[in-house]
Amino acid sequence: MVNNKEKENRWRYAQSKEDEFWKRNGVFDDQIARVISRYGPVIAELSKELKPESNILDVGCGPTCAGELFSVGSKSFLDPLMDSYLNTYPEKLPEGEKLCCPAESIPKEDESFDVVISVNALDHMINPVEVLSEIRRVLKKNGTFLLGIFLHPAPIAFLRRFVENCLPFLREDAHPYSYTLASIRELLDQYFDIAKEIRVYKKDSALFPSLHREDWMFVCRKK
Ligand SMILES: C[S@@+](CC[C@H](N)C(=O)[O-])C[C@H]1O[C@@H](n2cnc3c(N)ncnc32)[C@H](O)[C@@H]1O
Repeated sequence: MVNNKEKENRWRYAQSKEDEFWKRNGVFDDQIARVISRYGPVIAELSKELKPESNILDVGCGPTCAGELFSVGSKSFLDPLMDSYLNTYPEKLPEGEKLCCPAESIPKEDESFDVVISVNALDHMINPVEVLSEIRRVLKKNGTFLLGIFLHPAPIAFLRRFVENCLPFLREDAHPYSYTLASIRELLDQYFDIAKEIRVYKKDSALFPSLHREDWMFVCRKK
């Protein structure tokens, strides 16, 4: 991905595939089960620190809206496909403010939120670095950023980036970016202190489990 126009075109294509994915039968039930089982325990723990007046933003919420799992607080849900999700799942989306836009420019004032959560979305975005900077901007001074993300072993991430850049006809359409534990730490470190790293899912049943992606959650504080 060389320039901004190319990045944006690549993202638009990924988003069209994402939109198709969420319209398939049975997808919502499978995906909400993943969200609840993997991220629910961490969200429940953080909920204990929150008050009814706490403001929570879910970035790249999809129709599954992990932010809804916080037991208290006033919730906002942001996703560029929000209008499509509202059409497809009119009864499943939770109550709360809905923002239909990319997170590279969040239409909120500085220091608006006590918590920003983003699960399984950063590697789908146009410019993850800009998004992290925006998340830091809208987070209050003592706020928490909860990042859920799939991480790949280094050789697989290298291969995926090579394919993405040099063999685009073989790339995985939905994920323009691929991270390892080391590369996500490096990226987060630009904007946040990582307070906790939790591996929330590891596939032990795969033929080569060590080559399979893992699902991680990072509890971050604003720097
Ligand atoms: C795999 S889905 C994850 C949805 C949900 N968080 C979950 O875990 O089920 C990725 C989501 O990221 C959203 N997304 C893609 N690019 C984005 C961007 N630039 N800003 C915010 N969200 C974005 C997509 O529209 C999609 O809903």
